[in-house]
Amino acid sequence: MNSAKKYNWKNDTESQIVQFYAGKHVFLTGCTGFCGTLILEKLLRTCTDIGKIYIMIRPKKNVTMQKRMEELFQCDVFDKLRAMNPNFTDKVIMIHGDLYKPDLGLSAEDRQRLVNNVNIIIHNASMVYFKAKVSVILRTNVLGTQKMLELAAECPNLNVFVYMSTAYSHHYTKTIEEKFYAPPCDLKMIEDIIRVDEENAAGISKEALDDIVGKWMNQYAFSKAVTEGIVEDFGKRRSLPCFVYRPSIVTETQYEPIKAWVGNKNGPVSLTLGLGLGVLHVMHMDENLRLDFIPGDYTNNSLLAAIWDYVEHRETDEPQVYNYASSDWQPFVTKVLTQNFRTAIEKYPTSKMIWYPTLYMVSNKLLFLILHTIWHVIPAIIIDAVLLTRGKKPKATEMLFKVLKHHKILLYFISSSWVIKTDRTKRILSRMNAADLKLFPFDLKQIDWAKKMEMGLICVRRLMKEPYDSIPDARKKLQKLRRIHYTVVTLLGLFSLFLMYRIMCILSFI
Ligand SMILES: NC(=O)c1ccc[n+]([C@@H]2O[C@H](COP(=O)([O-])OP(=O)(O)OC[C@H]3O[C@@H](n4cnc5c(N)ncnc54)[C@H](OP(=O)(O)O)[C@@H]3O)[C@@H](O)[C@H]2O)c1
Repeated sequence: MNSAKKYNWKNDTESQIVQFYAGKHVFLTGCTGFCGTLILEKLLRTCTDIGKIYIMIRPKKNVTMQKRMEELFQCDVFDKLRAMNPNFTDKVIMIHGDLYKPDLGLSAEDRQRLVNNVNIIIHNASMVYFKAKVSVILRTNVLGTQKMLELAAECPNLNVFVYMSTAYSHHYTKTIEEKFYAPPCDLKMIEDIIRVDEENAAGISKEALDDIVGKWMNQYAFSKAVTEGIVEDFGKRRSLPCFVYRPSIVTETQYEPIKAWVGNKNGPVSLTLGLGLGVLHVMHMDENLRLDFIPGDYTNNSLLAAIWDYVEHRETDEPQVYNYASSDWQPFVTKVLTQNFRTAIEKYPTSKMIWYPTLYMVSNKLLFLILHTIWHVIPAIIIDAVLLTRGKKPKATEMLFKVLKHHKILLYFISSSWVIKTDRTKRILSRMNAADLKLFPFDLKQIDWAKKMEMGLICVRRLMKEPYDSIPDARKKLQKLRRIHYTVVTLLGLFSLFLMYRIMCILSFI
């Protein structure tokens, strides 16, 4: 317990957080994913005196872990770091591991290496695929974390174990506090569910699963809620310094290491992708809905600052919870998207668009279904028919299907509002000095949500691998598509009027 440590940093030009990480050895899981990549990059770039960073990776589809990391380090997200220090990988030690496997798939030698050296464990890896087989998700997320905690308890020099959860682990309550909630069940029940699922070739039935998951929206959220309970229980019983960190919906980076970077095409970016490409035009959403987005780099900074804060300033040895979310800090209302869409698309169109992009939000379900058929289904079929007649591969219906799949998954989040309390995380800012605030910014008050659509569209261009100098050509294409779009809309409008006129004529004869 470090309650005696107060803010007493005289020299505001040196970051306390950077000093804190100097010489510390960190074990990070999930570094091939979106958040993990950002954590790894930031630690290496900003905390240059850090000890070693041990990263857990698994080989995948005949690609070795070495190859996977080589490919990752070649990504543009590491360009800045590479320019600063071409030998940055010297600090990184790869550890072969898999959360799904017994004993985490670690060799005895690697396990001992971790136990002997590690000071900070950031357990960020997780299976985030909502529809995975329940035994796989529970083995990976729940049992995997249990084994990570056991490993942490063996480390004599451990300062803290951090579990990366989600702000929606207890989403059934509309105000989410920075506290532990009662978990859905204990470890014994999880082991029983896994056994039943694995013993039956078809797995657990949907009805039984719905019954087990209960008020949780899916097995992912359920697994996160159970795991939080395990972290809390372990922390208390074994006096393990630990906390749960809960981000809301992590979106593209605000500034660093590059503007508007995301690690995958999942989540909200899939919808922006659909909008930017002109595939998605209407969304089933209330314009006044409060959504909870947080930029990737700010999320990362708040996590690294929370680690420092917990180790240096905690007033109790109890496990804690830090939430990071915008709803209670800098609320985001969906209508800013529609208000700024036109300007944003004019500035950052993608040359890959297949129709003129527009955005309408409709809260009425019937109206949405009508517009959805007119705007999405019929055009996708027509575009594919044209592509087929030209001997090209049809892609519009497939693209639409992908976008709608994400729309459906996100529907739960985009159809209700939460207030996620962040008081503990906000308090960290008051303990940071000027250098910390400069190097680890995460004050959401600095975010201008009016620019969110622009950021999203820059992100789309990045995902489409389009160079900056291709913007003028993309704008020309946008103008061309706009002319086609309004011609088609005018013709359809005239045709509808004509049809109505004919129907009225027929009716007046009857
Ligand atoms: N992104 C968000 O909006 C968001 C919001 C709230 C909370 N979170 C939490 O933040 C964390 C990171 O999320 P993310 O968005 O970065 O996810 P992500 O991009 O899907 O990355 C997941 C990471 O977990 C690793 N992983 C999955 N199964 C594993 C296994 N069996 N063994 C070892 N590693 C495994 C993946 O490795 P492979 O590459 O080998 O698959 C990958 O590195 C998760 O805990 C998630 O629940 C994310």
